[in-house]
Amino acid sequence: MTIQEQIRELKEKKNAVILAHYYARPEVQEIADYIGDSFYLSKIAVKLDNPIIVYCGVEFMGESGYLLNPDKKVLMPDMTADCPMAHMVLRQEVEEAREQYEDLAVVCYINSTAEIKSWSDVCVTSANAVKIVNNLPNKNILFIPDKNLGRYVAGKVPQKNVMLVKGYCPIHEKISAEEIRMLKSEHPDAEILAHPECNIEVTQMADYVGSTSGIIDYVSGSDKKEWIIATECGVSYELEKNNPDCQFYFPATKPICTDMKKITLEKVLDVLKEENNLAGVSDEQAGIARLTLDRMLELAQ
Ligand code: 13P
Ligand code: SF4
Repeated sequence: MTIQEQIRELKEKKNAVILAHYYARPEVQEIADYIGDSFYLSKIAVKLDNPIIVYCGVEFMGESGYLLNPDKKVLMPDMTADCPMAHMVLRQEVEEAREQYEDLAVVCYINSTAEIKSWSDVCVTSANAVKIVNNLPNKNILFIPDKNLGRYVAGKVPQKNVMLVKGYCPIHEKISAEEIRMLKSEHPDAEILAHPECNIEVTQMADYVGSTSGIIDYVSGSDKKEWIIATECGVSYELEKNNPDCQFYFPATKPICTDMKKITLEKVLDVLKEENNLAGVSDEQAGIARLTLDRMLELAQ
């Protein structure tokens, strides 16, 4: 039996479901039951009846999966797959802002640890951040931990006072405007699509800025055939599958999230066999962290 057949057999026997982020390896996306961006994966997780969820993503995704499904087994194929940005804010920064502004809302990107979520009022993903911040009654917003997504959101809600911290995604931050300019000069008809985690030079050059699913949907809704993509290379699997007649150009220095790529088919099979590597959150943090996710799902409707 191939490894894919073994995974499928075990998955059916145990009534497990496999979720994968668009940045996972192509062969992992191929075996998954549901593929999506962080928002889609959070929404879908609460609708599933399966007692076991295998979460092919980094730690904060497994934690969120667990918080939204505390009665299910959420299994992580690699417990060391972590998002560096998920740690990039200090409690002191949040406390100082709370002391300064009475009506402060702390808006936390889902790419954060459960502990950071537990200091916050509401979670957002890149797909719903503008909508949620816009709908909050608060004028003063502390956006943590991603300064790039926070800056993008601030530009869309000029009526609010959006304050930022210094966190960033090392993969998106490093996408070079110079390399994007080079691609544009080589392919002048191509539109530039960028993730809001990119640096300001890149987002300013983009024809469209959006989450990974936003980028995928934008291409599906267009007749254009050439695209310059400023996000992690894993999205090419879905883009090429949906649009075999299109050309996709990525920066010469390939944006690859090494943590997402730690998840291999072998590890998916192992975790299904052993039912180990359980995602979890301490009771102390789980209460408020879960509330921030519930609020997100409610406010994003
Ligand atoms: P989205 O899934 O919201 O597009 O975010 C991308 C990302 O960096 C996930 O780690
Ligand atoms: Fe974190 Fe960036 Fe990797 Fe997403 S792509 S998991 S934000 S390091």
